[in-house]
Amino acid sequence: MDSTGPYDPTIDYPEGPAIAEIAGGGGIKPWRPLHVSRRNFLRGVVCSGIVIGGSSYLFSTATPARADTRGVERMMSLTVNGRTHHVDVAPNETLGYTVRYRLGLTGTKIGCNQAECGACTVMADGKTIYSCSTLTHRMRGKDIITVEGIAAPDGTLHPVQQAFIEELAPQCGFCTPGQVVAGVALLNSNPNPTEEEARVAMSGNLCRCGAYEHYLRGVMKAAREI
Ligand code: FES
Ligand code: FES
Repeated sequence: MDSTGPYDPTIDYPEGPAIAEIAGGGGIKPWRPLHVSRRNFLRGVVCSGIVIGGSSYLFSTATPARADTRGVERMMSLTVNGRTHHVDVAPNETLGYTVRYRLGLTGTKIGCNQAECGACTVMADGKTIYSCSTLTHRMRGKDIITVEGIAAPDGTLHPVQQAFIEELAPQCGFCTPGQVVAGVALLNSNPNPTEEEARVAMSGNLCRCGAYEHYLRGVMKAAREI
């Protein structure tokens, strides 16, 4: 069975690591609808990348990079969302792994894990990078921004986040954190992009739900409001 396709609640999936994790480690639990409003879902994915039902794992085709615990780990300082963390980072560890599994910033998603989909997009000194394919040790001294660092400290959404909600851009929400970071990075460097410039700037972020026009409209709407 292809385990990389979308979750189908009618299929009796064999228990695997992803299923076990979603089910809280206790095996498969019956599918049941979650009572979460569409509005709260949208706000969750644009703010912190929360994807209901753990689809961030089910849609992933890759196992997150694993730190080689047999090697010698090295302490380093990593500045993420304005906060400096002192973390043990393996020599071969990726930034995506570090922010998700060491810092607990799970808004950043790992999709392809090979620099193709953009789900893992974060900013380093204002420029977008694929965190799945960037060694954490190369980020010393850089200012990293993840999706959790986009909204204002008081929770006010960035215009890009607000516009994505209004344009109903998130469908499953899996690509949304990367789309938010890419959109914000674009408007930081070019506050008045043409539609073509925005399309090019967002082209490194794939959306399996095909909501490209919604994300594009969101970026253009945010540009008009900034
Ligand atoms: S996870 Fe797809 S580009 Fe990083
Ligand atoms: S909203 Fe589902 S992948 Fe983009």
